[in-house]
Amino acid sequence: MKSDHVHKYPKAKQIPLAQREWPSRVIEKAPIWTSVDLRDGNQALAIPMTINEKLEFFDHLVKTGFKEIEVGFPSASETEFQFIRQLIEEKRIPKDVSIQVLVQAREHLIKKTIESLEGAHSAIVHLYNSTSPLQRKVTFNKSKDDIKQIAIDGTKLVKSYCKDLKGTHIRFEYSPESFSDTEVDYALEVCEAVMDVWEPTEKNPIILNLPATVEVSTPNVYADQIEWFCKHLKQRKSAIISLHTHNDRGTGVAATELGLLAGADRVEGTLFGNGERTGNLDIVTVALNLYAQGIDPQLDFSDLNTLKTVYEKITRMKVPERQPYSGDLVFTAFSGSHQDAIKKGIDRRKKISNEDPLWEVPYLLIDPKDIGRDYQAIIRINSQSGKGGVAYILNEDYGLDLPKAMHPEVGNIVNAQADQQSTELKADTIYQIFQSEYVNISTPLETLQIEQQTDKTGDSVHLKANVNYKGSPYKIEGKGNGPISAFVDALDQQGWKNFTLKDYRQHSIGSGSKTEAAAYVQIEHSNGKDFFGCGIDANIEKAGLKALVSAFNRANL
Ligand code: KIV
Ligand code: ZN
Repeated sequence: MKSDHVHKYPKAKQIPLAQREWPSRVIEKAPIWTSVDLRDGNQALAIPMTINEKLEFFDHLVKTGFKEIEVGFPSASETEFQFIRQLIEEKRIPKDVSIQVLVQAREHLIKKTIESLEGAHSAIVHLYNSTSPLQRKVTFNKSKDDIKQIAIDGTKLVKSYCKDLKGTHIRFEYSPESFSDTEVDYALEVCEAVMDVWEPTEKNPIILNLPATVEVSTPNVYADQIEWFCKHLKQRKSAIISLHTHNDRGTGVAATELGLLAGADRVEGTLFGNGERTGNLDIVTVALNLYAQGIDPQLDFSDLNTLKTVYEKITRMKVPERQPYSGDLVFTAFSGSHQDAIKKGIDRRKKISNEDPLWEVPYLLIDPKDIGRDYQAIIRINSQSGKGGVAYILNEDYGLDLPKAMHPEVGNIVNAQADQQSTELKADTIYQIFQSEYVNISTPLETLQIEQQTDKTGDSVHLKANVNYKGSPYKIEGKGNGPISAFVDALDQQGWKNFTLKDYRQHSIGSGSKTEAAAYVQIEHSNGKDFFGCGIDANIEKAGLKALVSAFNRANL
């Protein structure tokens, strides 16, 4: 990049808005959503959708809750035309859903477009022509008046051809394409000329769609354009103001949200932001942003994974891993401090969700379960991860609720492995590491057989065991107030006890006939170091003894 080349690019013009109101407003309700996946999204695909793919996609859009779906550009290709015919003839369009068709302002195209709609119960005819100075000069070489005339003539043609459509409730949408790069007063002039022809009413409003065909400025400028337009439009109440942003500067979502603050009523976009170049607006993101602010988006993304799978299959596009809400990694934490905070938040929530319904989990904007994601994938382990993450995985995936004191040591062992292998460690590998390091360790001391008797009072246990120690067999015995202390006494009588018992705890894993017990023992070696051991067994007492032996063995290797 050469710095003198930067002068090729002019600055965006400021909008003469005396008192802008949008910065101090809040969005309070969902807009009218219009999916343009099957038109704008489709026209951006290397391999456009087949009719069957479009039908499948359409069904998913309906299921998601879209009430307006732009189904294509029927005058542009036979596939588009046939797809619309099939939708109508096979009665696949629910009564509360309007299909939308796009057309340029040319007579034969308008005629064909209206023909495609025969038999539909409700449809939106979407007419567009480009209005920006750049398009007027470079693409059309036409004056402002010529361009306005194209819009007027197109609207007249749509109006007259629509008279032939009996039984179809027709609404009309006009887009001054490249609106965000057009002088606002001229865009207004064209739109008002179109309204004069169409004669909308408050009951039957026109849709004025104001596209950022190419995103040319910061989102605040787009918001200014929308607010200026809404304030200056004479018959504001007879128009639905619609946003249609692309994402060339990466701020399509921001532009739409600010455009809504600025007074727009409707939003056009695609799932996951597919569309020309850097894409259209991602409706999933805007809708879930509303959701995250406590506003019902009126779209259902409770099974976002399925929607994503269908989308990826049909479009042959891939949703990036860090795409807001829908990316594979957006609810995943690798970093240790994040994992600890998330674990605390989720544990707290499990305890108090009945008392406090507010979602308060650090680092997670929304509850992943609301959009069909589970907590399993939230915490993933690599060399950046911490103690809490490893403990979380062992608990969530294997039901092992490790004592807190054990977390740092286990975390360090697992981390070191991840670092050594320079890789992410999956849950099964983490479990294997934990098992081989802590569970049922049987060298140098192995218990072969144990017998125990409790005295009549129930207060004293007499324990006898056959063991192997450092390769030789022994019969050992001891007494205590429970099997663990009796076993410790037996080790003491052999002269092998070089520790004090610091902590013992246990819990069950699973339920029903498959229930097992997990026990954890912490001992302090005479050298001052702490050692942990874990025992897992169907019998809770055996689990405890195994935990003690594991800790002893780890201390005496
Ligand atoms: O991006 C755009 O301007 C369009 C129009 C046809 C609405 O897709
Ligand atoms: Zn577009």
